[in-house]
Amino acid sequence: MRLSRYFLPVLKETPASAEIASHRFMLRAGMIKQHSAGIYSWLPLGFKVLTKIGNIVREEQARAFAVEMLMPTIQPAELWKESGRYEDYGKEMLRITDRSNRELLYGPTNEEVLTDVFRSYVRSYKDLPQMLYHIQWKFRDERRPRFGVMRGREFLMKDGYSFDLDMEGAVRSYNRMFVAYLNTFSRLGLKAVPMRADTGPIGGDLSHEFLILADTGESEVFCHADLVEMDAPGNVDFDGDLQPLVDQRTALYAATDEMHDKDAFEAQVPEDKRLSARGIEIGHIFCFGDKYSKPMGAKVMGPDGKEHFVQMGSYGIGVSRLVGGIIEASHDENGIVWPKSVTPFGAGIINLKTGDAEADKVCEDIYARLGTAGVDPLYDDKNDRGGVKFSRMDLIGLPYQIIVGPRGLKEGIVEVKDRKTGERQNLSPDAAVNFIIEQYKDI
Ligand SMILES: Nc1ncnc2c1ncn2[C@@H]1O[C@H](COP(=O)(O)OP(=O)(O)OP(=O)(O)O)[C@@H](O)[C@H]1O
Ligand SMILES: [Mg+2]
Repeated sequence: MRLSRYFLPVLKETPASAEIASHRFMLRAGMIKQHSAGIYSWLPLGFKVLTKIGNIVREEQARAFAVEMLMPTIQPAELWKESGRYEDYGKEMLRITDRSNRELLYGPTNEEVLTDVFRSYVRSYKDLPQMLYHIQWKFRDERRPRFGVMRGREFLMKDGYSFDLDMEGAVRSYNRMFVAYLNTFSRLGLKAVPMRADTGPIGGDLSHEFLILADTGESEVFCHADLVEMDAPGNVDFDGDLQPLVDQRTALYAATDEMHDKDAFEAQVPEDKRLSARGIEIGHIFCFGDKYSKPMGAKVMGPDGKEHFVQMGSYGIGVSRLVGGIIEASHDENGIVWPKSVTPFGAGIINLKTGDAEADKVCEDIYARLGTAGVDPLYDDKNDRGGVKFSRMDLIGLPYQIIVGPRGLKEGIVEVKDRKTGERQNLSPDAAVNFIIEQYKDI
């Protein structure tokens, strides 16, 4: 992409309303535009990151056998009356009336809708298990929308739902998502810790929240310090027994404040390993058995010739919250520092003298070659001063910058800067291109 043809409305001033780094940088880097409390447009740069995160989520869901679909944002109130949640959900639910006075709502979650899909088609245990998900906008009329996309009112969630014949199967499905979530967050460059969680309005008794530690997080968390450094499981057989992997990560103490038990914490965790910190909830999984299948009549014929209510679970990831979460975990005073897996562009090319024949030629050549190699470069071909270009490129946080100017070119070199470390190397244009391509070999 050529910057001269892109839409990147960078702000010079930090908007006063933004209290935390991710919100400030997302506004300044022209990633989002607020229209109303907790309601945003995703501008091109922000939308690109959102899409990349969504695609990593999709890849890891597929590895765990989850199947993608799409459900509507607007749902009929009747389904929620069937499950008994219509009244319970309270003011967070946006209730709508259509022209024929039918009650509708903007979905805050989709247990009812998918249970309705399931009960319409599935009759036999032979068609189980099923694991379906979608990535769709949700609306919750939060009491305090804040911190930008971290607590929006309209926000993008991946939500998945599993259907099994019995509790044993339901726990297998739960474990698959548990492992898939760890792998997903690790690919996003995050150290997510699964913590025992309260089940809230979704219900059920087996539940974990996945949190990343950050001073600006809204949750208070207590855990064994070793959990934070534990590697994600990576390549595992999702058909095999995942219980040992899950046990390994649930054996050590980890709880959010609602579930925290001070005595247990002190008894189970040696003093030098007791971590009490703040965290951002990026995912939440639940196993709730027949909480929805029973009132909504979702049942299948079992091998015993009898009807069984299916045992269900639901699995959420805050896709739009993750954009903010990743920035909270990776930034410095100059701006964002994107992990390679979700960076909106692979590298930035800065032309220090647009209009200079040699600089233009070298930049065009680097731009074309990185593009062909699939690195997706952003070429700053605008007429701004060097200082403006440098700070803009630092702010938007692409992992690498190639800086091209007439002075260096006289000696046949360009400069390659690593955004994270600040390290700079002088290389020939050829070597610079090869260096960048090499960095993306395994992404
Ligand atoms: N208002 C919101 N804005 C952005 N993301 C959200 C919001 N509410 C929930 N999410 C994301 O969706 C995921 C699944 O939703 P869930 O129902 O578990 O949320 P929740 O427990 O109500 O979240 P929170 O405790 O932060 O209000 C959460 O883990 C979070 O990442
Ligand atoms: Mg939650």
